[in-house]
Amino acid sequence: MFDETVAILENKRVNAEYYKLTFHSKRIAKFAQPGQFLNVQIETHSDPFLRRPFSFYRVQGAKVELLYEILGRGTELLSQKAKGASLRVLGPLGIPFTKNLKGRKRVLVAGGVGVPPLVFLAEQVKQEKKHSVLMIGCRSKAEVLPRKELANLKSLVEYATDDGSFGSKGFVTVLLEVLLQRENPKNLFIQTCGPHAMMAQVIRLAKKYGVEGEASIDERMACGVGACLGCVVETTDGFKTSCVEGPVFNFSNLLSS
Ligand SMILES: Cc1cc2nc3c(=O)[nH]c(=O)nc-3n(C[C@H](O)[C@H](O)[C@H](O)COP(=O)(O)OP(=O)(O)OC[C@H]3O[C@@H](n4cnc5c(N)ncnc54)[C@H](O)[C@@H]3O)c2cc1C
Ligand code: FES
Repeated sequence: MFDETVAILENKRVNAEYYKLTFHSKRIAKFAQPGQFLNVQIETHSDPFLRRPFSFYRVQGAKVELLYEILGRGTELLSQKAKGASLRVLGPLGIPFTKNLKGRKRVLVAGGVGVPPLVFLAEQVKQEKKHSVLMIGCRSKAEVLPRKELANLKSLVEYATDDGSFGSKGFVTVLLEVLLQRENPKNLFIQTCGPHAMMAQVIRLAKKYGVEGEASIDERMACGVGACLGCVVETTDGFKTSCVEGPVFNFSNLLSS
């Protein structure tokens, strides 16, 4: 884990939903894994006081990319940072998604702030014989990632939009259920990140069809290193900190849904 001050190389709007921020760090780039995150101090003064967690979106050489949406004050301020501005970043933090699925087909289900880590994962496993499926849910076509952001994937990418303006109309979990009905559950492994309601439905479907998987539980965080207990999740093994013992948990360890 490294605590570095980095200079922003690029911070630009990608579409109606996301901004992309790029910086340079050889050490962080070398160790970053999909599902891990950075705790970012957005301002050097005390407002906002707490760091904000962001998943790795892409690593290219020593370049690290984050993809983020504006949810509140911290991300609003982040979006206003110009090229050359500095940020303090702590990481890589947390447990990553499992890469070796022992021949099972990877089914990735993403929405909102869960899209970046799953695109990163899909890019990193593109050599797998069985290509993964990446299912993304969003509100409308305006939130669909530009084609070049997905150009490095070998996965089949399927979109579901609330208004039907791109891909299938409705929730992304409808796409998931169609696939679960069609394929042998023993040959599949689901990895999901996104809004809690979406992940709860993904886990319900996984249990119904007997498919194993894991979810990144992106609880609100503060310290990011297991000290404040602000991010605990109740699991079958008791309470766990999402920042150190997660954010990725196996479905079988999660109580909710
Ligand atoms: C492990 C992890 C990885 C993350 N990765 C990304 C990422 O790659 N891209 C990205 O855009 N965001 C990501 N997030 C969410 C991001 O940290 C929050 O959007 C950010 O902290 C909000 O800060 P803010 O000051 O803008 O909003 P705040 O003022 O702190 O909050 C604004 C609103 O957002 C809600 N909110 C804040 N944090 C979360 C959260 N974790 N989950 C759901 N709702 C939240 C609050 O309840 C509130 O309604 C991640 C969160 C975690 C825990
Ligand atoms: S954020 Fe402090 S313990 Fe997880």
